[in-house]
Amino acid sequence: MNQVNQHISQLREDFMKGELSEIHLKKTPDLQFEQWMSDAIEAKVNEVAACNLATVNSNHKPSSRIVYLREFGNNEFYFYTNYDSRKAAEIADNPFVCLTFFWPELERQIRIEGIVVKKAETEKSDAYFNARPQDSKIGAWSSPQSRVLKNREELQGFIEQNKKKFEDQEIPRPEFWGGYIIKATYYEFWQGRKNRLHDRIRFSLENENWKIERLAP
Ligand SMILES: Cc1cc2nc3c(=O)[nH]c(=O)nc-3n(C[C@H](O)[C@H](O)[C@H](O)COP(=O)(O)O)c2cc1C
Repeated sequence: MNQVNQHISQLREDFMKGELSEIHLKKTPDLQFEQWMSDAIEAKVNEVAACNLATVNSNHKPSSRIVYLREFGNNEFYFYTNYDSRKAAEIADNPFVCLTFFWPELERQIRIEGIVVKKAETEKSDAYFNARPQDSKIGAWSSPQSRVLKNREELQGFIEQNKKKFEDQEIPRPEFWGGYIIKATYYEFWQGRKNRLHDRIRFSLENENWKIERLAP
């Protein structure tokens, strides 16, 4: 076995930081999510808004990548991206997606399943785009996200072109860039516990009511 495999095969993390009990659980999963997100912010979790977004294409093949959650509420989750990217094409084929957060500092994981119900309102996408630093705006215009590039210089060329194009003017949001809204229909809150006997509580939407169940770890 090589050194790296030896190292990872011997990692043993015991989770001891907390527990998740039905008594302290919020009545609805969006309130529970808000509580855990606010705990994570307070605990200064690194990259607290980063989550894994999984999509599935029309051939049933999954793919996933990290995105930033930018807003949530009422079981709606917003993220922003390029509407011509691979993820966008997969969402157009199949709107069912998953989001997963892992906050090691709190030994917590949250799994969310839902449907991309629509693109974010143009005002919201505009507001978020306009709040980005100038270089990020140029970046959004310059990256044909998920496309093959000849080399790094090709990307640099697009950046230079856009810098020139938008010199001395407000940079508008490109039409090919904006938000998506995921409506969640399923949540699982996971709290690491000792000896792999973790707490797992799920909320699933049944006839417009949230059914709450505990799962074996
Ligand atoms: C911490 C982190 C945050 C990211 N946030 C975003 C994001 O909010 N939007 C986005 O389009 N890509 C984001 N990315 C890049 C994506 O992971 C991915 O490389 C990109 O969106 C292209 O994915 P696709 O080809 O599957 O569409 C982020 C990556 C990391 C590591």
